[in-house]
Amino acid sequence: MDQRDLVQQQFGAQAEKYAQSPSHAFGRDLGRLIELLALRGEMRALDVATGAGHTALALAPLVREVVAVDLTPQMLSQAQALAQERNLHNVTFVEADAEALPFEDHSFDVVTCRRAPHHFTDVPRFLAEAARLLRSGGSFGLTDQTTPEYENGRNFIEMFEQLRDPSHVRALSPVQWHGAIESAGLHIAHLELQTEERDVEEYLDVAAVPPQGRAEIYRRIAAASREAAEMNGFREVNGRLRFERRRVIAIARR
Ligand SMILES: C[S@@+](CC[C@H](N)C(=O)[O-])C[C@H]1O[C@@H](n2cnc3c(N)ncnc32)[C@H](O)[C@@H]1O
Repeated sequence: MDQRDLVQQQFGAQAEKYAQSPSHAFGRDLGRLIELLALRGEMRALDVATGAGHTALALAPLVREVVAVDLTPQMLSQAQALAQERNLHNVTFVEADAEALPFEDHSFDVVTCRRAPHHFTDVPRFLAEAARLLRSGGSFGLTDQTTPEYENGRNFIEMFEQLRDPSHVRALSPVQWHGAIESAGLHIAHLELQTEERDVEEYLDVAAVPPQGRAEIYRRIAAASREAAEMNGFREVNGRLRFERRRVIAIARR
């Protein structure tokens, strides 16, 4: 199946869960992203892969206008409903692909993308689009799950993510993100890591992993090297398996 079909199938079915997910609505990476962007009231912002709109709606009260883009119509409907609920009228919603964005060159002051690039088939193409759309001096703000630099730890967490969600393509390590952003002609102003402890079973629930998929995931975790699991913070707490979701938060200027 084409990657875009996989994304629409995965997120189309789970759109309501993402709208209600406390981690997506209130995760610390959102507040930190907004804080680091130093937004001003005259700015025009683009939020790419907006999902249920949590980032776009956090930007909206702080800027003049937000355009929110996603590939999955059901996610956009959730985002639109949330905007109405919060009485936010400066957000428009557009169905489009992060790797081919239908906007004029240099037409945004800010481009954000939160918790989505690991679903993109071609991150350099997305970054080239972000660079094209930003005016000179404009800001790119990213948060996304990241991997250990070491291959062993990286392969383990990527295996876990791909089994959980078939629309997961590839997460980049902090060093890989740094290289990719600079190669797109954007200049890193800030890069930090954040961790969020998550309950594995709850994390599988958000993606609606069926029972046989869960059994396979637990079998693969048990068979993995201790080192690889520990590098990703997998451990049992009160009989429940938990892990550390690591995220990269980056701000770059055009
Ligand atoms: C986890 S959600 C995003 C969360 C959201 N940014 C937030 O802050 O809550 C991932 C989203 O990426 C979207 N997506 C995946 N690949 C995409 C692509 N190539 N272009 C646009 N959206 C894409 C999916 O449809 C989904 O809505």
